[in-house]
Amino acid sequence: MNALLIAGSSIVTLALIFYSIGILTEQRRKQLSLFVLGFVTAGVVCDISGTLLMIIGSGFRVLTLHGLIGYTALGGMLADTLLLWKARKRNQGSPSRRLHLYTRIAYVWWIVAYLSGVIMSMSR
Ligand code: HEM
Repeated sequence: MNALLIAGSSIVTLALIFYSIGILTEQRRKQLSLFVLGFVTAGVVCDISGTLLMIIGSGFRVLTLHGLIGYTALGGMLADTLLLWKARKRNQGSPSRRLHLYTRIAYVWWIVAYLSGVIMSMSR
């Protein structure tokens, strides 16, 4: 892995930590606290930055299996973050059942994308 790919995967690992703290807290407490939203938002920022570094580091090889899983996972988490903020702004202290479930599915799919990166870089 070149320096950009190492930096990208390290920043994506930070996203893993932030997402996990934020989303596991939301799943347990079912509350849209600033703690939850702060961690999930920090996760998205790291996710976008890490992905951009990986795209550049791969020499703009955009259409790969890992890339496609990664884009959908990032899109899913970005949408989730916006929906969680929107629900909080509407003075909802806790997410709807649908949003709570969507959050779980988006997170699990994101973990699949993360693992696809780990497996791909180990099998090189
Ligand atoms: C959900 C988290 C992740 C996302 C959204 C993501 C996204 C991407 C994207 C869009 C690319 C460019 C397309 C490609 O070359 O396949 C890429 C490349 C790459 N990623 Fe990730 N990635 C993630 C996690 C990881 C992890 C955890 C690792 C390693 C530990 C990793 C290692 C790599 C490597 C080595 C490349 C370059 C592949 C090549 O040049 O053929 N990725 N990633």
